[in-house]
Amino acid sequence: MAIMSGQTALSLEEQSFADRTIAAQSGKPGALLGILESLQEHHPNKYLSADVLEYVAEKTDIPLAQIYSVVTFYALFNLEPQGDHTICICRGTACHTRGSRNLLQRLRLELGLPEESEEGADKLCLTTPDRRYSLRTVACFGQCALAPVVEVDHEIFGHMNERTLHRELEHLQSGRKKS
Ligand code: FES
Repeated sequence: MAIMSGQTALSLEEQSFADRTIAAQSGKPGALLGILESLQEHHPNKYLSADVLEYVAEKTDIPLAQIYSVVTFYALFNLEPQGDHTICICRGTACHTRGSRNLLQRLRLELGLPEESEEGADKLCLTTPDRRYSLRTVACFGQCALAPVVEVDHEIFGHMNERTLHRELEHLQSGRKKS
């Protein structure tokens, strides 16, 4: 149940979790990053709502603008609800030269996601209307020897091609475990 408390619309459970998270991170180096990461992970749709950010600002006395600058700087933070499954394609140079663009196009087609300009491809984040899948891109996973690299639900796959990518998507769609 979401209720208004002070200036926040967070549920009591959300407030309680945020309070405990902020207390646990208090005084630690990188406390704000740790707080935001925990709160994002706690949300079923893995994102940071405006209400959550305002609550953190209020409780930590960190200016809201500073918090927004952090969440927009780091690619790991989401300001929109994410899908149940996330597929992340590397758009770094090594992966690009080994076909990551084709993998991206293939997934867009299979998931029915819209085309975007190539200029924005290195920061892509699209979610299907049913919120089943999010498609993201990353600048480099640091696994260039395995190019092209794709991450599926936090699991890294190297030397990916369109056939193996399609197979992983089928696994997700059927709910089956990978073989
Ligand atoms: S460029 Fe893709 S992992 Fe480095």
